[in-house]
Amino acid sequence: MTDTVLVTYGTTNGSTAEIAEAVADILRKDGLTVESCPAGSVRSVAPYDAVVVGGGLYAGRWHKDARRFVRRHRDALARRPVWFFSSGPLGDAVAEGDIPPVRGVQRTMNRLDVREHVTFGGCLKEGAKGRMAGMILRSGKGGDFRDFGAIEAWAQGIADALTHA
Ligand SMILES: Cc1cc2nc3c(=O)[nH]c(=O)nc-3n(C[C@H](O)[C@H](O)[C@H](O)COP(=O)(O)O)c2cc1C
Repeated sequence: MTDTVLVTYGTTNGSTAEIAEAVADILRKDGLTVESCPAGSVRSVAPYDAVVVGGGLYAGRWHKDARRFVRRHRDALARRPVWFFSSGPLGDAVAEGDIPPVRGVQRTMNRLDVREHVTFGGCLKEGAKGRMAGMILRSGKGGDFRDFGAIEAWAQGIADALTHA
C-alpha cells in the first residue's frame, strides 16, 4: 500500500494546475495522502512513495518547471512509481485519439519507471500570458478542451494501482 503521493506540475496559465488538483482529489477520495504543488517548489521527493508529474505543452516541449523537476530529481524518481501527463492540444485532437508524449518527455520516460503517460486537451483563455497566446486567441483557436471525466478516470486508474499495490 502506497501512502503518500506527490502530484506536481509545470504551468504558465494555471490550467495544468487545475488538472493536477482534479487528479489529487481522486487520489484523496481513495484514502491516499496527497500533496499537490508546483514543480518549481518541490525540494525533495524523499517523503513520497509515488509521484504524478504534469506539464503544459509549449512549443513542443513540457513546461520548463516540469522538465527541471524530472532532471533534478531523476535518481529519486527512478526508484518510485511515476505517472506523467501532458496538457496542451487546443481543438479536437485529443478527442480524436491518443496523443503520444512529445520527444523530450518520451526520452525521460525511457530512463524512468513511468507507468503511464497521457495527453489531455489544453485550455487557453482571455488573459493568458504572452504575445503568442494573444495571437492564438485572436485567431479563434482558444477555449477549454480539458475533459474532466477523462482526467478523473485516469486518476482512478492510478488510485487503483496504488491502493492494490
Ligand atoms: C505560446 C504557446 C505555445 C503552445 N504550444 C503548444 C504545443 O506545442 N503543443 C500543444 O499541444 N499545445 C500548445 N499550447 C497550448 C497550451 O499547451 C495549453 O494552453 C495548455 O493548457 C497551457 O497550460 P497552462 O495553462 O497550465 O499553462 C501552446 C500555447 C501557447 C500560448
